[in-house]
Amino acid sequence: MKTITTILGARPQFIKAAAVSRAIKAYGGMEETIVHTGQHYDRSMSDVFFKEMDIPQPQHQLSVGGGTHGVMTGEQLKQIEAILLEQRPDCVLVYGDTNSTLAGALAAVKLHIPVAHVEAGLRSFNRRMPEEVNRVLTDHMAQLHFAPTETACRHLRKEGISGKGVHLSGDVMMDAALFYGSRARQPEWFDELKVNVGAFLLCTIHRAENTDSPTRLRNIFRGLAQSERPIILPLHPRTRKMLEQFGIQAASPIHVVEPVGYLEMTWLETNCAAVVTDSGGVQKEAFFHGKPCITLRDETEWTELVELGANTLVGADAERIALSINQCAERVLQAEVYGDGRAAQFIAKVLSES
Ligand code: UD1
Ligand code: UDP
Repeated sequence: MKTITTILGARPQFIKAAAVSRAIKAYGGMEETIVHTGQHYDRSMSDVFFKEMDIPQPQHQLSVGGGTHGVMTGEQLKQIEAILLEQRPDCVLVYGDTNSTLAGALAAVKLHIPVAHVEAGLRSFNRRMPEEVNRVLTDHMAQLHFAPTETACRHLRKEGISGKGVHLSGDVMMDAALFYGSRARQPEWFDELKVNVGAFLLCTIHRAENTDSPTRLRNIFRGLAQSERPIILPLHPRTRKMLEQFGIQAASPIHVVEPVGYLEMTWLETNCAAVVTDSGGVQKEAFFHGKPCITLRDETEWTELVELGANTLVGADAERIALSINQCAERVLQAEVYGDGRAAQFIAKVLSES
């Protein structure tokens, strides 16, 4: 029986793991142990996903959330190492680009345990992003790379990472969107907002470069305030704190709500007019659901969406944001750039055979 230890801790990783853990179980012959670092810990940022997406409960629940990057990553590294020393799994599986990804990969590689990286090869080429540093280092530590797109494979090749460990797997978030799509659920509070289905913008903001700069955050909210349509903003706790700290108001037409679970988020993505976001995952989900995406960043890792005309980068420029959200297309064309929804199945097979 092959043993795999999965390290996760932040919201997008729960969604990716929902697809892959199910596939690992279905494939058989592997025993998965899940370690939750506790990077995200609010019920609406963690528990809700395990419950509604049937993710196996973590066998190890750490409590390493908050603090500076060094404190968080260092404490995670220490605690994950202790678990790996005891378990000695055949492989450590990590997702994406968070501090939990880096800590998991580093703990494993120092113990000579092979690392498998799901969402390998993503690059923004902006080393000021904590995620860029995390993903580059993780790719250089991993033995198995699951790249979602051909572009991601190319980035790996340019950094000297090639050969039989690199796999073009497709994107496991596509798998999740297809699998859970039919379970999408209207949020209970939706009717109270008196917003018409199909006539609102769905917005998420949490990227450090936006939340930690009072100028950028103020400009984003100045741009959003000029929207001709209501905006629903499930507010990330980081952004809530920073809005309070900088004294920035989320005024009409913005409706601030608590972060939602994946099933409600999918409903909102399916029933909005367009998506406005700085999230990596939400940019792709807008595309899966045929919605235009206005991205509150200066660059994106998902460049194919910009090339397809599905995604417009507007940075934190109030006037560009206002123009784009009021003039965006009704729908975007769909294309099979993120695989066919069987990425997780493929990953499970490779994990089993490696
Ligand atoms: C992290 C990831 C980012 C990912 C995002 C997904 C890193 C460096 N960043 O960013 O790549 O896109 O998760 O959402 O790993 N907080 C709470 N409750 C929670 C979680 C966070 O209050 O359940 C607050 C805390 O004040 C915390 C802050 O949010 O200090 C930031 O959380 P953190 O996990 O450090 O970074 P994110 O911005 O969530
Ligand atoms: N998401 C969610 N509820 C929310 C906001 C986001 O379920 O209130 C989901 C979203 O559908 C996507 C994932 O969280 O699957 C994206 O995570 P996030 O934006 O936190 O991180 P990123 O993708 O930018 O790393």
